[in-house]
Amino acid sequence: MSSSLTNQHILSVDQFNQSIIQDLFSLTEQMKLYKQNKQIRTVLNGYVLGNLFFEASTRSRMSFTSAFLYLGGQVNHTTGVTFSSISKGETLEDTINVIQSYCDVIVLRHSELGTAKKASQVSRVPVINAGDGIGEHPTQALLDLYTIFDEKKQLDNLTITMVGDLKHGRTVHSLARLLCLQKNIRFIFAAPQIVQMPEAIVSDIKSHGFQVELTDDFNAAISEADVIYSTRIQRERYENPSDYETFDGLFTLTKEKINHYCKPDVTVMHPLPRTNEIKLDVDALPGAAYFRQAANGLYVRMALFCSVLGKEING
Ligand code: NCD
Repeated sequence: MSSSLTNQHILSVDQFNQSIIQDLFSLTEQMKLYKQNKQIRTVLNGYVLGNLFFEASTRSRMSFTSAFLYLGGQVNHTTGVTFSSISKGETLEDTINVIQSYCDVIVLRHSELGTAKKASQVSRVPVINAGDGIGEHPTQALLDLYTIFDEKKQLDNLTITMVGDLKHGRTVHSLARLLCLQKNIRFIFAAPQIVQMPEAIVSDIKSHGFQVELTDDFNAAISEADVIYSTRIQRERYENPSDYETFDGLFTLTKEKINHYCKPDVTVMHPLPRTNEIKLDVDALPGAAYFRQAANGLYVRMALFCSVLGKEING
């Protein structure tokens, strides 16, 4: 199957449009069934994924790996900087120039903004951005969008409240921009002023004709939401703990708050890992979708690999 994503690098949500997303999501539905029915797939037999995670990860690293394995491929990986030649002073470009001969597709996570793009400029095999510093996380945005659809059965006419460290959180950067492909989304960004959504993203959203509200009134922001997308303080992106300690824990969701302030059918999402943003008592609420969201990451990434590698799954 040739899709418009075949042989493409996946660097930013800017690359997607409605038709790409619809194709990807219908493939995602298929993947979910294969996985749930334990049907063995060999479509990626003979293919190798180069999984390069130079920054901490559990979900992304393991779901990319499992997605490839469930499709019959094999995975070669390097984790962290310490055990890679980058610690000896090798440039990213040299690393990619070497690794591309060892695999058919590269997944790259790195702490620096723009690294995936840099890698794509020297790579003959597709590079998939699994997070570049405070930049983007396009595959997370795809699985987030898929989860919103799965939970709400609609993608238009929703109020989406994003909460937390919106300045440094790459997942909200990507998701907010991906949601601009939908109709009639009302965006509420709830954060302390100093970690509000970057101005460039806010004006991008406004230029698409959407309503955007910036606030630090957490309770009011969650009361309007159809979907709350909570994020953690990105501690690793601050020089000193004192830079975030003043607002750490201010925007914590509890069962009591949700029952008191939110719509009865509110959906609560989080890219995970959580720290103190969502109390454990929220987990049992029917709208707590974050573990289902993480599970969806596997199916979306299976669909993405098939699309990027131009593979069809029959039956
Ligand atoms: C996110 C990330 O790495 O940006 N995690 C993830 O991929 N699910 C969110 C985070 O680390 O806070």
